[in-house]
Amino acid sequence: MKRVSLTQYLVEEQRLHNSIPAELRLLIEVVARACKSISHAVGKGALGEVLGSAGSENVQGEVQKKLDVLSNEILLEANEWGGHLAAMASEEMETIHPIPNRYPKGEYMLLFDPLDGSSNIDVNVSIGTIFSVLKAPEGMGEPTEQAFLQPGTRQVAAGYAVYGPQTVLVLTTGDGVNCFTLDREMGSWVLTQRDMKIPEDTREFAINASNTRHWYPPVTRYVNELLAGKTGPRGKDFNMRWIASMVADVHRILNRGGIFMYPADAREPDKPGKLRLMYEANPMAFLIEQAGGAATNGTQRILDIQPKKLHERVAVFLGSKNEVERVTGYHQQ
Ligand code: AHG
Ligand code: MN
Ligand code: MN
Repeated sequence: MKRVSLTQYLVEEQRLHNSIPAELRLLIEVVARACKSISHAVGKGALGEVLGSAGSENVQGEVQKKLDVLSNEILLEANEWGGHLAAMASEEMETIHPIPNRYPKGEYMLLFDPLDGSSNIDVNVSIGTIFSVLKAPEGMGEPTEQAFLQPGTRQVAAGYAVYGPQTVLVLTTGDGVNCFTLDREMGSWVLTQRDMKIPEDTREFAINASNTRHWYPPVTRYVNELLAGKTGPRGKDFNMRWIASMVADVHRILNRGGIFMYPADAREPDKPGKLRLMYEANPMAFLIEQAGGAATNGTQRILDIQPKKLHERVAVFLGSKNEVERVTGYHQQ
């Protein structure tokens, strides 16, 4: 089999579609290299003293794990000096990170969830990194938080890495979704799946059912119908999976279909859901749509949402198109 590396893929994509200019290619390669470092650290586990809590809290009030902090540092350091970025923003940092003055600045802005699935780190279950790339607004001087508040439709690239039995990188630049597997001996990313497509129908759903009592009626109705199985209104049985790492749940859905839900609920009405629009929902929605799926917050396409805050939360329904449309329809009724 002829092996196509990430670099070769990016160069050829630029030649064919003119969609990956040199600076964007550098950005993607640097992020991929950072993910390789994170994967290496994850793989060492207790031997690398990377497990456990860092003893600090992030802006969401969540306790940070050592790997949350380390992965954030790896991504910042890797991306600071290349000249391809104007600024970065991360789930683990309260404010944006402008590129220091000692380095040249570029036209892109990078956002990331450095370590997704933190509750799974210490128990050796798949975790990952999610990233999103925007362009700095025309004529931007000093980068500001405001410059990042662009709807997901403006993303020029997005992707995630999963650190699991295999380390994979899934990427879109707006021209389909491709998957690269890390060759651990060679240290290179090899194209292993081209143009991933999500089946429109599915018999698999993902939701944290421990929150059932807090759900709003459209979600309760939808899930109850799935649970009713063959003799219920849907006339077929559904299976459930919940990994508690969005990267791993989304990766399953990209491979074999399914619907992933993290709804808003009645606990904290002013905080819609748990997931973050800029670091989780937008990049995943971009990938899912590029693979033929759908992603909404129950009432609206996620990619159309105008962000108001960097750390804004959002309800998420994504995956196989017909199921996402159905549960979205229940919200509209
Ligand atoms: P993070 O580790 O970046 O905070 O994200 C965790 C997210 C997401 O990956 C996952 O789907 C969800 O939180 C799990 O939430 P529950 O613990 O409520 O199931
Ligand atoms: Mn996350
Ligand atoms: Mn995280």
